[in-house]
Amino acid sequence: MRKVIIAGNWKMNKTLAEASDFMDAVIPKAPGGNTEAIVCAPFVHLPALVEKAKGSNVKVAAQNMHFEESGAYTGEVSPTMLTDIGVTHVVIGHSERREYYAETDESVNQKTKAAFAHGLTPIVCVGETLEQREANETMDVVGGQVKKALAGLSDEQVTQTIIAYEPIWAIGTGKTASSEDANEVCAKTRKVIAEITSGDIADQVVIQYGGSVKPANIDELLSQSDIDGALVGGASLEPESFVQLVEAGT
Ligand code: G3H
Repeated sequence: MRKVIIAGNWKMNKTLAEASDFMDAVIPKAPGGNTEAIVCAPFVHLPALVEKAKGSNVKVAAQNMHFEESGAYTGEVSPTMLTDIGVTHVVIGHSERREYYAETDESVNQKTKAAFAHGLTPIVCVGETLEQREANETMDVVGGQVKKALAGLSDEQVTQTIIAYEPIWAIGTGKTASSEDANEVCAKTRKVIAEITSGDIADQVVIQYGGSVKPANIDELLSQSDIDGALVGGASLEPESFVQLVEAGT
């Protein structure tokens, strides 16, 4: 049975005090078991949040990282720095980073490999634009992104990778893909993974859906055969709604 993983991506939101209050409210209510709760926080908050999350069922993720261990990369944060402070997960290739910070399939692949080289679990984001969907290019785009992101990984590493399917047109817009449409892409993505791995590896990969997920639609999304969780932006900012989303996974 695959885990259900609910990850809250705060993006560029919250002061340290707000982040800290959020953890105080959420940690006692995180259920654990087969449902994993992850908070993807801005870099500056990570040390404090990792400290708070110790011994709890909440995991802490970075929203990005560089693929090199160190060097002359002003403003960047390395995988070594993340593991050094106890971060366990990292979001890679979010569409906002692809759009605004020139993230490419190649850098996504380098970062995904670097994550595994340092013992971090990558949450790899893929997704199509509205234009691509309307041109029936969704699976060419998403399948291509997945293949390029996972290129060169071992089957074992692929099983540990979390894929987040986020149609770009559904992010922060209030427009959610219908649960059937979202599931169709997630199921086809699993088939793409099956093409590049052996045995039943693809069946073990957690595939999240992201894009205007909220307490009102999480149950329907999670009831689908190939959706194993959610990467949530706006609705992850309030502890009450994040807890509801995590509880939906139990
Ligand atoms: O990383 C999260 C996604 O970009 C979804 O954001 O839930 O605000 O649409 P949203």
